[in-house]
Amino acid sequence: MKKIVILISGRGSNMEAILETARRDQWDSRVVAVISNRPDAKGLETAARYGIPTAVVPSRSYPERASFDAALQQEIDRHAPDLVVLAGFMRILTSGFVEHYAGRLLNIHPSLLPAFPGLDTHARALATGVRFHGATVHFVTAELDVGPIVDQAVVPVLPEDTEESLAARVLEQEHIIYPRAVRDVAEGRLRIVQGRVLPYTSDR
Ligand code: GAR
Repeated sequence: MKKIVILISGRGSNMEAILETARRDQWDSRVVAVISNRPDAKGLETAARYGIPTAVVPSRSYPERASFDAALQQEIDRHAPDLVVLAGFMRILTSGFVEHYAGRLLNIHPSLLPAFPGLDTHARALATGVRFHGATVHFVTAELDVGPIVDQAVVPVLPEDTEESLAARVLEQEHIIYPRAVRDVAEGRLRIVQGRVLPYTSDR
């Protein structure tokens, strides 16, 4: 059984999609803990409803990025996870932290990377006039929102879209691609070859 730890900062709808899919499809892998950097994250209640142990490592209590990341790492490693999943975890991570979890740290970002890294992706997509937008699941590397791409989902941008309507259309897709990607990575179906994510095939 592979062990998964999920990190959240807020609502936790991607986390819930993973928990729901894991339960419905009876994954071999198990989410063993949900950790938030914010004590008021709504997702903590949701995780508890699913019977998942939760913890808070409050980023506000740590003046420096490095000391927060060290405390977070300690809390995560208590569970000896095979995979760490960032699900709306709104922190920039130190390179030491990222290296510690190299190849077992996943993120979902609300844009078609490499377009629109960073914040306010939906507003920027609307302002730029792109016809298509979406979400990306990727392995985390030291550079923000860069890293081998596991999966993407594309949605149209409609003339009448607002930031909210576009975000909702993207989120619906996030809830489909993230659980699938998490399962594939946890169950060892994918490998990274020269910065690209490829399926494992038995003949190689
Ligand atoms: C999601 O849209 C996710 O892609 C985004 O935050 C939202 C979290 O929602 N993540 C980032 O912007 C990371 N840079 P959720 O808490 O309901 O899953």
